[in-house]
Amino acid sequence: MSNQTRVRHPGYLSKIMSAEAAAALIPAGANVGMSGFTGAGYPKQVPEALARRIERLHAAGEDFRIGLWTGASTAPELDGALAAVDGISMRLPYQSDPTVRKQINAGTTQYTDIHLSHVAQLAWFGFLGPLNVAVVEVAGILPDGRLIPSSSVGNNKTWLDHADHIILEVNSHQNIGLEGMHDIYYGTRLPPLRRPIPLLHPGDRIGDHYLQCDLNKVIAVVETQQPDRNSAFAAPDENSERIAGHIIDFLQLEVKAGRLPPELLPLQSGVGNIANAVLIGLNKGPFENMTAYTEVLQDGMLDMLRSGKLAMASATALSFSPAALADFNANIDFYRERIVLRPQEVSNHPELIRRLGLIAMNAMIEADIYGNVNSTHVMGSSIMNGIGGSGDFARNAYLSFFMTPSTAKNGAISCIVPMVSHTDHTEHDVEIIVTEQGLADLRGLSPTQRARLVIEKCAHPDYQPALRDYFERALRDAPGKHTPHLLTEALSWHARCVETGRMLA
Ligand code: COA
Repeated sequence: MSNQTRVRHPGYLSKIMSAEAAAALIPAGANVGMSGFTGAGYPKQVPEALARRIERLHAAGEDFRIGLWTGASTAPELDGALAAVDGISMRLPYQSDPTVRKQINAGTTQYTDIHLSHVAQLAWFGFLGPLNVAVVEVAGILPDGRLIPSSSVGNNKTWLDHADHIILEVNSHQNIGLEGMHDIYYGTRLPPLRRPIPLLHPGDRIGDHYLQCDLNKVIAVVETQQPDRNSAFAAPDENSERIAGHIIDFLQLEVKAGRLPPELLPLQSGVGNIANAVLIGLNKGPFENMTAYTEVLQDGMLDMLRSGKLAMASATALSFSPAALADFNANIDFYRERIVLRPQEVSNHPELIRRLGLIAMNAMIEADIYGNVNSTHVMGSSIMNGIGGSGDFARNAYLSFFMTPSTAKNGAISCIVPMVSHTDHTEHDVEIIVTEQGLADLRGLSPTQRARLVIEKCAHPDYQPALRDYFERALRDAPGKHTPHLLTEALSWHARCVETGRMLA
């Protein structure tokens, strides 16, 4: 199919221009809302053209940076290109780019790390400032002007509705068979006019297949033909497989105890290789007819859909390896019946997560013995990626798992510590901690009961004696305290961790 047939409305046809010409329309200091979610559906040419422009302007001594808002992480052509020319003054709500990460940690780029379900409403509340330009990738434009969304939805509806000006990238590399897979809900309102979101099952369709767009706001249309990032997943290592095994055993016991139905409750699976390993385990496991209500659809869920273990999956983005993408493209009619892509304000909505009763499974950097979790800051002060959707899911899910290998850096650092060096999820939001060593079911336990279980079940044997010693002395030191701490000593664990990190860096 040629590029031309993807822009089928005359009003949009007349706005087609080069990426350079479109990038020239973005003013210095603008807040720019770009599409993109976990390396899917991000604009591929305008950001690079903008980066080239910024480089020229910087060389000429001009100051030019933008505030960059997205759905979540993007790819080298977007975050990477703009960061390489120091073009990002403020980044939100989530990133995973190595250069952006470096600039945030160096303090040269500001970062607002936001729960992904909150972003759209914060923009509408006016809490984030004005949104000057939206740059959104779509898979096509219909004759009546509606937009066929791309491989992610993210915050695109909000960016298109809220921005003063719009630049569209129409990517003819995206499979046109995506048409009909999306469910764009236009019923969200601001307080005090909010109404319940009428979604009762992960597969429900409550909106439109298309994004709406005000042609008068469109200042450029750029035609592209480029694939998404499509990174491959590492094959599950032994630790990931053991973590997956603990979770599956636990779920089987929960079914037996009557606390979960045989087909489980809808699955939410976080980003990364451990999460993917759990899905691979579930695909080989005993459960049938499962569903998913999650943020990102990775290879593992595609395999489960194909095998029939998973009846359907709802998400906001597709993030596949090249091999999984080939399968998806070859069988898109099959997958369109079983996948719904929604705005992230719906995929991550607390109301729906609570109503559907999700099983939330997210990775973490470290947990403390009481069950507080750090998902974002290595050694307490260096941002890794961001909180993403983990907080949306953890607080509101039916079951909330956090998982990590028990040690990092070849065993030099314990991921189970006396007190987390940064808290993203407090003990109140964390029900089950899993490492390759075992699973600690913390439901209904007091802090001291939790500490004993986490040390015995999850800590690496090399670190158990020190953790036991710490905890017993903390109990002796402050026997009446609900959550006993030896504060100076807990901090010394961080200091040791920082020192080890420095030595390994
Ligand atoms: N101390 C120091 N470094 C640590 C560490 C610790 N306790 N735990 C992990 N690390 C390092 C690892 O060594 C690795 O370093 P490297 O990149 O130099 O190899 C890096 O952190 C990533 O660890 P890894 O085990 O590969 O984790 P991952 O890819 O599974 O990602 C998170 C883990 C927590 C970073 C990732 O899941 C994340 O960003 N989560 C937050 C967002 C989220 O949960 N989203 C899902 C909601 S839908």
